[in-house]
Amino acid sequence: MSEHLLVEREEGLLTLRLNRLHKKNALTRAMYSAMAEVLEQADRDASVRAVLITGGEDCFTSGNDVADFIQAPPAGLNSEVFRFMQALFEFSKPVVAAVSGPAVGIGTTLLLHCDLVYVSREASLRMPFVNLGLCPEYGSSLILPRLLGHARAAELLLLGQGFSGEQAAAWGIANQALEDGAATLAKAREMALRFQHLAPAAVADSKRLMRAPGRDELRRVIEEEGALFGQRLRSPEAIEALTAFIQRRAPDFSKFG
Ligand code: COA
Repeated sequence: MSEHLLVEREEGLLTLRLNRLHKKNALTRAMYSAMAEVLEQADRDASVRAVLITGGEDCFTSGNDVADFIQAPPAGLNSEVFRFMQALFEFSKPVVAAVSGPAVGIGTTLLLHCDLVYVSREASLRMPFVNLGLCPEYGSSLILPRLLGHARAAELLLLGQGFSGEQAAAWGIANQALEDGAATLAKAREMALRFQHLAPAAVADSKRLMRAPGRDELRRVIEEEGALFGQRLRSPEAIEALTAFIQRRAPDFSKFG
């Protein structure tokens, strides 16, 4: 288990708390593996009624660790990140997210696979895949145009434009925007604990029915995005962008034609 993932238990609620604040909760391979393992076990454990994912009151996650992207780019469906994506995608019980501060890359796309999402008003969400020479991931190229319309999704995915928690709630990506990180975490916990008192099989059946339409197509898109993402990570464009992040400078794409 990774020291950067805290797992807390409160009645039937299992909380996964990202705990790498000095790196803005950037997700390492070890953290993905730990999250996948916890989710896989929780799915089999009848006493777990719901899962809450949070980074605490100040920061959700800055997304995949950029140094990991350079040193050990995920290679397809056997990678740690894909195992995590799979575990969340297949998870049969309700997943609630509490989001404050930055939620970048997979920090935003994973929300599309949660059942209830609470955000602080000032949370800053962003999917800067093109800005890093990459492409959308985790079904976002399918889900977001359908949810938001092509025009708005294009601003988010083709320009990498950021948006606030308040916007996420207005657009239906989140259930509600709250005044700050503490209120967001409290609300998410309160809602997640409600599942303790509901019939677990009825909840699981309902979730499965809600997620069923288009599921095979979504699974196929996630795999297609994942394969392309892996290729793009090794492209000169991505290497320039990731190196620029480490060197704290703007990337220079002018040489690519
Ligand atoms: N991977 C690795 N390290 C990261 C990181 C990431 N995704 N995000 C932040 N960090 C590190 C920074 O390098 C810095 O490390 P240092 O103190 O050793 O120099 C530390 O976390 C603090 O980050 P900083 O950028 O100084 O904080 P900020 O408050 O100014 O900005 C973010 C926060 C999240 C907006 C900004 O860090 C960011 O844009 N991160 C990259 C996000 C990204 O592109 N993720 C990949 C998406 S696919």
